[in-house]
Amino acid sequence: MVSLQLEGRTVVVTGAGQGQGAAEARLLAEAGARVIATDLTADAPAGLADASPALGGELLYRRLDVSDASGWSGLAGWIRSRGWQVDGLVNNAGITQRSRLLDASMADLQKVYDVNVAGSLLGIQALSLLMGSGASIVNVGSVAGLTAHYPVAYTASKWALRGLSQVAAMELGPRGIRVNTVHPGFIETPMTAGAKPEFRQATLAETPLGRSGSVEEVAGVVLFLLSPLSSFVTGAEIPVDGGQSGHGGAKSVSDALR
Ligand SMILES: NC(=O)c1ccc[n+]([C@@H]2O[C@H](COP(=O)([O-])OP(=O)(O)OC[C@H]3O[C@@H](n4cnc5c(N)ncnc54)[C@H](O)[C@@H]3O)[C@@H](O)[C@H]2O)c1
Repeated sequence: MVSLQLEGRTVVVTGAGQGQGAAEARLLAEAGARVIATDLTADAPAGLADASPALGGELLYRRLDVSDASGWSGLAGWIRSRGWQVDGLVNNAGITQRSRLLDASMADLQKVYDVNVAGSLLGIQALSLLMGSGASIVNVGSVAGLTAHYPVAYTASKWALRGLSQVAAMELGPRGIRVNTVHPGFIETPMTAGAKPEFRQATLAETPLGRSGSVEEVAGVVLFLLSPLSSFVTGAEIPVDGGQSGHGGAKSVSDALR
């Protein structure tokens, strides 16, 4: 039966301590998956505490810095030692960096690149070895990767992640492993909690649905991409942004002519 249920499947989620990653870990466990939630802290963060895994589902926690190759091989070894294979990977961990074009330093660029791009590549390299046909990888991009978003280092990293995703979809497809990208718009998380009111107002003005999104609204699309319901979807990029990236800047024109 084709369904959104993930019983018997093992899924790794990075950056799962809070925000979107925590919501994804909770939802995937509720859908019946064995979820290995990972983040920077030694102990499981509080954001994972309210999960209620469905029958057969499970939520485990492991420390993992996604920019550390040895951390990834340690995680892969731990999974292998338990006799599990990996059926899903959500490369969700990400950091932002708000410097502008003429101020961004090489250190700014390197820092976001290490987490947002290298972190995802290392994850694919380490865990695809434990994947079989039917496995699914979801990379978490951003509307920044679809537009000329103002924070240049972050924006460049998310555009780079799109390239990585497409190469991975091409290379892993023959093994039956799918790779897709979700591009969240303005989602209410600790990352955006500190956004200036001007940013919030201007972003919502560009968002046809006229509101910010919730972490659950991103998690739902991630669940779909990990499930057999999306079994012929690979190399796809799905904005989860209330329409922000779809109008190509034409919304202000449309609004002005009402
Ligand atoms: N919130 C938004 O509006 C928004 C919009 C577009 C894209 N995104 C993307 O969605 C993803 C999740 O964002 P969020 O808003 O939930 O962010 P968040 O800051 O609330 O959570 C990110 C998590 O990633 C973890 N993390 C950071 N560096 C890490 C590392 N090196 N190794 C492992 N974990 C690390 C953090 O500890 C944190 O728990 C990110 O990739 C982000 O770029 C967010």
